[in-house]
Amino acid sequence: MNADPTLLGTVEDVSGASIRIKLGQGTVSGLSFIEGQSYRIGQVGGFIRIPLGFVNLYGVISQVGASAVPERLAEIEQHGNRWMTVQLVGEGHPATGFDRGISQFPTVGDAAHLVTEHDLRTIYGRPQDPRFVQVGRLASTSSIPALVEIDKLVTRHSAVVGTTGSGKSTTVAGILTALSESSLYPSARILVIDIHGEYGRALSDRAAVFRINPDKSRGERALHIPYWAMTLDELLPVTLGGIENIGDRGFVIDRITELKTRALKQWPRAGVTIDDMSVDSPVPFSIHQLWFDLHCEMRATHFERPGAPQSRQTWAMEKDGTGKAIQAGDVMKAIAPRFSPPKDNKGDDEKIRLSRSNLGISRNADALGSKLRDTRFDFLLRPGPYLPNEEGKTERDLDDLLSEWLGDIRPISILDLSGIPPAIQSEVVGSVLRLVYDALFWARNLPEGGRERPILIVLEEAHAYLDEKQIASVAVRKIAKEGRKYGIGMMLVSQRPAEIDQTILSQCGTIFAMRLSNSVDRSHIKGAASDNLDGLFAMLPVLRTGEAIIVGEAVNLPIRTLIDRPSSRRRPDSTDPKVVVPGSEEDGYESPGGWNQPRDPSDYAEAVELWRRQDPRSRRVLQEVEQTGDVAAKEGEPK
Ligand SMILES: Nc1ncnc2c1ncn2[C@@H]1O[C@H](COP(=O)(O)OP(=O)(O)OP(=O)(O)O)[C@@H](O)[C@H]1O
Ligand SMILES: [Mg+2]
Repeated sequence: MNADPTLLGTVEDVSGASIRIKLGQGTVSGLSFIEGQSYRIGQVGGFIRIPLGFVNLYGVISQVGASAVPERLAEIEQHGNRWMTVQLVGEGHPATGFDRGISQFPTVGDAAHLVTEHDLRTIYGRPQDPRFVQVGRLASTSSIPALVEIDKLVTRHSAVVGTTGSGKSTTVAGILTALSESSLYPSARILVIDIHGEYGRALSDRAAVFRINPDKSRGERALHIPYWAMTLDELLPVTLGGIENIGDRGFVIDRITELKTRALKQWPRAGVTIDDMSVDSPVPFSIHQLWFDLHCEMRATHFERPGAPQSRQTWAMEKDGTGKAIQAGDVMKAIAPRFSPPKDNKGDDEKIRLSRSNLGISRNADALGSKLRDTRFDFLLRPGPYLPNEEGKTERDLDDLLSEWLGDIRPISILDLSGIPPAIQSEVVGSVLRLVYDALFWARNLPEGGRERPILIVLEEAHAYLDEKQIASVAVRKIAKEGRKYGIGMMLVSQRPAEIDQTILSQCGTIFAMRLSNSVDRSHIKGAASDNLDGLFAMLPVLRTGEAIIVGEAVNLPIRTLIDRPSSRRRPDSTDPKVVVPGSEEDGYESPGGWNQPRDPSDYAEAVELWRRQDPRSRRVLQEVEQTGDVAAKEGEPK
């Protein structure tokens, strides 16, 4: 029998931070009782303590049994299962407490101990410290809270990964709830890029929610992303589409610059002059005018006037009997003018010729025209008070937009992108992030900058727009690499880490790995985590829903955690639908449906209506909105 019940065995092999421990003869496997608490011995993910004088080294068990036997002993070792591989991760000093990293190594013969609840408390036990946020409890010892250091979580970036339904969004909702607690963090600043519109309801009282079809009765606001704040590279793919020909591209650049210059002359904006302005400067210009000009440039027909060049004055409009143009065109409504067909026969007294323009972008211009008329693009191309008129005058400027997104008194801003066309998702996310980054980067010495008031940007479903080739990854890569210095942190949430740009993933200092069955995804996560914790990550496929392995900078030791599920009203809108509903609604089942419930005959008319309107709110809900006197809904419409 051991004199010290925590003694497990002795160190037999040390190679870097990876050590092998041979369990002592007297160590019972299975359950052990110490001070009334039960401990499981030899569990992967469990902790080991190795005292070295005044210092305690701490490690995580990553392998147990036959495969943990050192190779040279494998042949002769009778009891293969009495070995463990342990990864050292940090050390505890009596004075300073726990530190990550190892300054000294154990040697052969040193004693290895079980980590008791008392030890764990010295490592983890700081529940009242506002520098830490509690995300759950240790899976091994549920009386000990799992704490995450907020500083490191935010500035060193983090990733929450796991298969669909493993509990990522719920975890994020829990973290956001804790971080937006106004008594502790009254000036928290969090921006959520919410692709599926899951968080609005759960955080409605603490968040400013921006949506394409805002429910004003719930205080939601219209989402506007002004196209003119985009750089040329961001703008072209979502408007005109790619332009291969260098000459054509140059022409478009010149036109945009010209429109911006003209607007700037009339409405000067502090910080930018006509001389230092470029096509990428965030200066309002009318894209409607750009489209109209390009369209006419290529499509207009002209009366031939010998010696006179083709111009607006020579346009041959199609006229009705009274001599009035049938359709003169409307710039802001994106209606094209109708021109007479060419007349070039001998007998014709007046000749009408096609435009002599050699621009090859009529398809691009047509694509832009149809986007200008498509209401799904209104958030971008008709952005309410940020919509420039034909001359480039806007009611509001970028500072209003930024103070809406970043300067609200509520700690969280949710940009609900669920209604935007998926084809332009990456571009839109990319420009939103670049906008925020640029604003905080240039404001780095101001109180509004990220240094004084850091920001956490949560990127839900990051795999959808962050693979290497997509444009959003350019902005995110910049935040991942440089954000720390300017107080811009991010939290990636993804079910397919393998599809995310590896540069971005490897910059995530803290990883919340939830159940993850795909081996390619697992190897990406293993590659991105700094510690060598293969054994721990081997557990990922068998984690329960809501269980996470947290590794990295924001936690002292890698921990296997049961994430606290937020209270029912704080959960994201992503609950698993019940296929078979065992009880009734009174039993707490939110959805009344289910395959085992009788139902009324279906009517898909409303389904199609909602689909066409691209707004999931039913007629009944909209009626309620009407009745509550929603005057605000009319606000923000372009004049
Ligand atoms: N900590 C938890 N405890 C209990 N149940 C949980 C926990 N976390 C999540 N769940 C449940 O699991 C289901 C899926 O959760 P969630 O929507 O958070 O998954 P997800 O990983 O975000 O999925 P997806 O990748 O599809 O977005 C929900 O029904 C949720 O209530
Ligand atoms: Mg989710």
